[in-house]
Amino acid sequence: MACDNKLKKEMFEELKKYIDEIGEKNGALISVLHKGQEIFGYLPQEIQEFIAKEMNIPIAKVYGVVSFYHFFSMTPKGKHPISVCMGTACYVRGAEKVLNSVKNYLGIDVGETTEDGLFSIDALRCVGACGLAPVVLIGKDVYGKEQVKDMKKILEKYRKESVG
Ligand code: FES
Repeated sequence: MACDNKLKKEMFEELKKYIDEIGEKNGALISVLHKGQEIFGYLPQEIQEFIAKEMNIPIAKVYGVVSFYHFFSMTPKGKHPISVCMGTACYVRGAEKVLNSVKNYLGIDVGETTEDGLFSIDALRCVGACGLAPVVLIGKDVYGKEQVKDMKKILEKYRKESVG
C-alpha cells in the first residue's frame, strides 16, 4: 500500500509540474486533462478536484469538460480496453450489432468497466482501418470483419488468458 501511495504522489507531482509549466492557463484545460488521463489512466473526482485547484478554476467547469468529451473517462479502464469503431464504414457494416453483442456478453455499457476489472468498452470514430470494417480494438490488437462475427469467442479467449 505504501508503494501505491508513493506512486500516486509521484503521479500528482508529475501532473502539477505539467500545469506549473503552462504559461497561459486560459484554454489549457483540455491538454491538462489529457495529461492527467495519460498519467492516471482515467479522471476520477479526486483528480478533477486537484486540476481545478491547481488551475484556479471551478470544479464544475472541469467536470463539464470531462463529461462532454467521450475520450475522457471517469472510471478506470479494464485490463483489456475494448474500442468498437462506430465510424461510417464500420457503422454501415454492422458495428452497432457488434457493439451490442459485446455489451450483452459483458453486461456493461459504453464507458463502463466490468467488476473484475478485465474489460471496459468505448465507442470510437474511424480508427483508419475501414477496409476491415467493422473494426474492434482490444488493447493493441485489431479485429476486423471476419473475426468480429463472434465477439463472444474473442472475449472468452482474453478472459481465459487473464484468469489462467
Ligand atoms: S469507420 Fe471504422 S475503421 Fe474507418
